[in-house]
Amino acid sequence: MKQADEIIDKASKFLITSMVNKLEPIVVSEAKGAVIKDVVGKEYIDCFAGISVVNVGHGQPEILEAAINQAKILVHAGSYVYYVLPTVKLAEKIAEITPAPLQKSFFGTSGAEAVECAMKLARKYTKKPEFIALMGSFHGRTLGTMSITGLAGRRKYDMGPYLPGISFAPSPYCYRCPFRKEYPECDILCAKTLQNVIAYSTSKGVAAFIAEPVMGEGGIIPPPPEYFQIIKETLDEHGILFIVDEVQSGFGRTGKLFAIEHYGVEADIMTMAKGIANGFPIGACTTRVDIGNSFEPGDHLSTFGGNPVSAAAALASIRVILRDKLPEHASEKGIYFMKRLNEMKEECPLIGDVRGKGLMIGIELVRDREKKTPAEEETRKVRDIVREKGLLIGSGGAKGCVLRIQPPLIIEKEQIGKALSILEFAIRKVGSKLQS
Ligand SMILES: Cc1ncc(COP(=O)(O)O)c(C=O)c1O
Repeated sequence: MKQADEIIDKASKFLITSMVNKLEPIVVSEAKGAVIKDVVGKEYIDCFAGISVVNVGHGQPEILEAAINQAKILVHAGSYVYYVLPTVKLAEKIAEITPAPLQKSFFGTSGAEAVECAMKLARKYTKKPEFIALMGSFHGRTLGTMSITGLAGRRKYDMGPYLPGISFAPSPYCYRCPFRKEYPECDILCAKTLQNVIAYSTSKGVAAFIAEPVMGEGGIIPPPPEYFQIIKETLDEHGILFIVDEVQSGFGRTGKLFAIEHYGVEADIMTMAKGIANGFPIGACTTRVDIGNSFEPGDHLSTFGGNPVSAAAALASIRVILRDKLPEHASEKGIYFMKRLNEMKEECPLIGDVRGKGLMIGIELVRDREKKTPAEEETRKVRDIVREKGLLIGSGGAKGCVLRIQPPLIIEKEQIGKALSILEFAIRKVGSKLQS
């Protein structure tokens, strides 16, 4: 315990940690599969996967071996100065696995860097300056990506002004429909309103529309099935590019390799990071050949981008995801998880909504089902109780009241069963206090 206290004390002195007041009080020492261990030997079922990153599971031996072997021969030379083998091989692999017509990639080290690249490419290619993003969206923490982030809860305050020329369209958040309608009678107004956003909020100089196919930080929001078809038709009508941000939803998490594949539309630019290399830092911005070729010498670079160790890990990770059919596993386990959560919802009034795709699941907690009063404090309490009982989950949403379940895709049925029991215990406990 003393060791843990010392580390927590040092962290508060020397680390800038701004996401939350305090980090989760766990001093992590090691992890394997879907289990994380702390320095005092306590084990936790990991249902957050390092914020939706470790899709193939912690300590996957083939990925480690690929990274270690690569580190022994070359850690860094500069993938934007020389031709570096794993970087080029990864670019070829990404072209093969991403939906047509995506072919050319730029690699950075994070999701935000991938999105920054997408924004610059869209402007360079179209010679237009504006963007449209979604209310409730999240695209990163750099000033450019914060400009297109529609989630005030992710602290957009006090650091502006942000980029000009950004408009926000209503989000496809059925549980809290911006038009107070019910699907499908709503006529998918959230998608159709994009026409109005273009007409009334822009100067018709829009380079691109950007969206997550399933919103992550915004509270796990999968749009209705027709949503992206309608959006894409509108974009094509106005000659606006479509950037799909798969940073959180990609690499099998939602039951398809990429979440946009659920919706049957093609993107012009795709951004990826998190699950791409199972925890090794790398992000990718992949696009059509003509868009990729619009950068001129000197336009863009990242010193560590396409790092060979991360690229080797990404190649191994993609191989395992495809070979072991992890998207299918995510789909199957997600159905099981959601079924049990929906049963729980019947008995626990604290649960307002259960939604998601594959192993990207959100449980929205409300104090009052009729009024849908956000249960922000209760969400924190549930997260604390489950952690005490040995389960790690995330939270998010514009109102801070969505529990996020995003485990490694290799999580076993037995571990899911245990996670569900702990969750039920915590939700019932916190819910009973609410009723009394
Ligand atoms: C959809 C999406 N885009 C971009 C980012 C930014 O990624 P990073 O934190 O690696 O910069 C995130 C991070 O959560 C994300 O969920």
